[in-house]
Amino acid sequence: MIRAAVIGHPVSHSKSPLIHNYWIGKYGLQGAYGALDIRPENLAQDLEKYIAEGYAGFNLTLPHKELVLPLCDEVDETARAVGAVNTIVVKGNKIKGRNTDVFGFLENIKQSAPGFDFRRGPALVLGAGGAARAAVYGLLQEGAPEIRIANRTKEKAAAMAADFKNVKTVAWEEKEQALKDISLLVNTTSLGMKGQPPLDMDLEDLNANALVNDIVYAPLETDLLKTARARGNQVVTGIGMLLHQARPAFREWFGVLPDVDAELMRRVLE
Ligand code: ATR
Repeated sequence: MIRAAVIGHPVSHSKSPLIHNYWIGKYGLQGAYGALDIRPENLAQDLEKYIAEGYAGFNLTLPHKELVLPLCDEVDETARAVGAVNTIVVKGNKIKGRNTDVFGFLENIKQSAPGFDFRRGPALVLGAGGAARAAVYGLLQEGAPEIRIANRTKEKAAAMAADFKNVKTVAWEEKEQALKDISLLVNTTSLGMKGQPPLDMDLEDLNANALVNDIVYAPLETDLLKTARARGNQVVTGIGMLLHQARPAFREWFGVLPDVDAELMRRVLE
């Protein structure tokens, strides 16, 4: 029996158990995937305890993605560059930290908008949190020529621009002016999410062939995506990032690279 779990605080909202247990069933594996609510101050000792119990690995969610970095024996290049670990693989007595959010972000766009050319033009990324860092790192890896970051707190945008090449900051109040020549707009803020304020953005200056991606997936069709679609832009919803980031983690623990199928999509959106 292979065991894995998501660690968070709180953790009850996490969709990871649903996703991984769906795949355990689909591929007929002997496994179980749970949810562990662990306070930040207990992370080190609880991680050690669960590893001693034989867990094959974990996903990390808020507030642990950054806190777990110093507890890892090895951290892969992506997790180091993004500054966050969302997946732990236990090998022998070693804790290996990985970041699969970058894969999830890119794979979602590649599968939902096949043929989209990341090199074609600049991208505008809204937000400067963990999801923004994953998006920016992924876009640079795919050859995006320039990335513009607009964030409410400008110091966080400036810190990102200092960490990555070809990243510029744009004042939050002037984000519409950065739309003109971009080929990709990505929202990584929580604006537009159920229960959060709306993302108020005028898309008038957006090029008709630019792609628009929202990382928010509740609701699936955010106002940003609705507005973009109505004016003829191709859009990519956020649900695929959540589903695709889970695939490499599942493969590490259970030995099968799983598919994202329609039934899984339906269950996660229920
Ligand atoms: P994640 O890890 O999902 O990226 P996060 O680190 O909490 O989450 O980042 C949330 C992002 O949404 C941040 O860029 C945040 O802006 P600040 O850096 O200024 O906090 C952005 N955000 C949240 N609420 C916002 C609001 N009301 N207006 C503008 N931006 C907001």
